[in-house]
Amino acid sequence: MTPQLILGVNIDHVATLRQARRGRMPDPLEAALIAEETGADLITIHLREDRRHIQDHDVYRIKGSIHVPLNLELAVCEEIIQIALQIKPYKVTLVPERREEVTTEGGLNVARMIPTLVPICKEFADAGILVSLFIEPDHRQIQASVEVGAPCIEIHTGAYSNASGDDQDHELERIQEAVQLATSLGLRVHAGHGLNRENVRAIAVMDGIEELNIGHSIISDAVLLGLSSAIKGMREAINI
Ligand code: PXP
Repeated sequence: MTPQLILGVNIDHVATLRQARRGRMPDPLEAALIAEETGADLITIHLREDRRHIQDHDVYRIKGSIHVPLNLELAVCEEIIQIALQIKPYKVTLVPERREEVTTEGGLNVARMIPTLVPICKEFADAGILVSLFIEPDHRQIQASVEVGAPCIEIHTGAYSNASGDDQDHELERIQEAVQLATSLGLRVHAGHGLNRENVRAIAVMDGIEELNIGHSIISDAVLLGLSSAIKGMREAINI
């Protein structure tokens, strides 16, 4: 029997909503606890340099309270790397980060960062933290990931998620080939970005992918699926 795919639930956008008011609600920790109670195998959060959603205190509270492993996404940035080494999540996922971007737009250019990434991967490995590199489904990036000593990669599925028709089939083939190459080189393969209930199946059935990280579509569904009960709750509260 194929082992069940690991579902990492990314709760960054719960923090995005909270930060819109700079208040306490909704609390990403509460979201993390609901996620683990309802089937998340992993909680994923991204501590960005600009702290646009998840804040440092969220990372500490979430790490201290959840029972499933924590996957901390971070840029190759000394300040955040030091926080990660202190927090010791189960896994770190290194991602590219630009202040102007709305979300993580592309994969990490590992092939261009080999001298930088070798000591970082070693430092995390020495600390007992699993390292994953978020890369495009590209042969050069996969070979480079092996070269820097990363045990895992996460394939960026954004191009697949944004495409349609023949273009989407082409992107799916690229991902399939990338998964085959990566697993043949001994890498563990994860995937994510832009996945939703409509497009996830084709990725989920691929042999060799062990984990998916999904955020935006789950939180979007949660808003719409939860809206009627939120309104009913308010109606009860004001009908004294
Ligand atoms: N994996 C990584 C490395 C990411 O940076 C993101 C976005 O934060 C995701 C997965 C989840 O993407 P989405 O929110 O589009 O599901």
